Amino acid sequence: MKLPVAELHIHLEGTLEPEAILRLAEQNDIKLPWPSLEHLREQYEFSNLQSFLDLFYTNLAVLRTRADFHEITLAYLRRSDAAGVRHVELFFDPQAHQERGIELGEVIGGIRAGLKEGEERFGITHKLIACFWRHAPAESAMEILRTLVAEGHDVDGIGLDSSELGYPPILFQDVFAYARANGMHVVAHAGEEGPPEYIIQALDLLKVKRIDHGIRCLEDDALVQRLVKERMPLTVCPLSNVRLRTVNTMADHPLKTMLDRGLNVSIHSDDPAYFGGYLDANFEAVKRELGLSTSEQATLAKNSIESSFLDEAGKSSLTAQVDEWLAAEGQDR
Ligand code: HPA
Ligand code: ZN
Repeated sequence: MKLPVAELHIHLEGTLEPEAILRLAEQNDIKLPWPSLEHLREQYEFSNLQSFLDLFYTNLAVLRTRADFHEITLAYLRRSDAAGVRHVELFFDPQAHQERGIELGEVIGGIRAGLKEGEERFGITHKLIACFWRHAPAESAMEILRTLVAEGHDVDGIGLDSSELGYPPILFQDVFAYARANGMHVVAHAGEEGPPEYIIQALDLLKVKRIDHGIRCLEDDALVQRLVKERMPLTVCPLSNVRLRTVNTMADHPLKTMLDRGLNVSIHSDDPAYFGGYLDANFEAVKRELGLSTSEQATLAKNSIESSFLDEAGKSSLTAQVDEWLAAEGQDR
């Protein structure tokens, strides 16, 4: 039995594998700067978040049709089923597609069709979260959000992603207020490269229900105490942190410290096609390099379920599956 988990920090466009990028480029007649798979693969050395984003935004240009979005969503779910994912809250970047002239309805329709087929085939339940770019003006986010609401697009929540430094959450206060007033769930990336102050702003000004990444909270003791007290979820992405050099090596990753301090952390794959693996690879890496016990792994899984936007019945049923896994693991040893 695989450890059952909820994947809460996953960018759809970050699941585009190099082979799929070249195949879709050919199919959709998109010219990419890399002449071969080998050249493309050479681009996957990152020095920071921005160096990754530059490649990520170039490659996602191969996505053009509703069928493309359907196909990559389903491919992600197939791979994640094998990794133990039972529920997913999937991010996508609406601005990345709208600015290329693709209708929001095509993007969301394709993703929703993929999510529906994935639930039928693999039993993975889902939510869909539109992430706004913090490097773009808040007016752009607001305009898209108003369209999503006015046209009744099927989106469960909003998030905030892209380049963090220099773009504090306060810039998006009105956008998040509008989303909350319209019954949407709200989350934001904060404290990946940005300072603890950005986490505080996301909590106080955006009133988010989860912090994506959040690892720099450890630089502020009072903030850690607050996050523990509020049981604020932090969706940590270990392989991403190593590949984007926010931590030096996996052995230096603060995940265990965060667990030991009582923070509500869970682990996720972020952009698995770029960072060396899906959720199972993230679990393997932290087990190997940080020596996480079976019970710590179960805690991570239970935290992911508790931190999801599933209803209480959905949470209880998945949590019971984690206990079954724990019982089976105990018997194996
Ligand atoms: N951080 C910020 N923005 C992103 C990421 C990330 O890891 N992946 C895709 N957009
Ligand atoms: Zn992310």
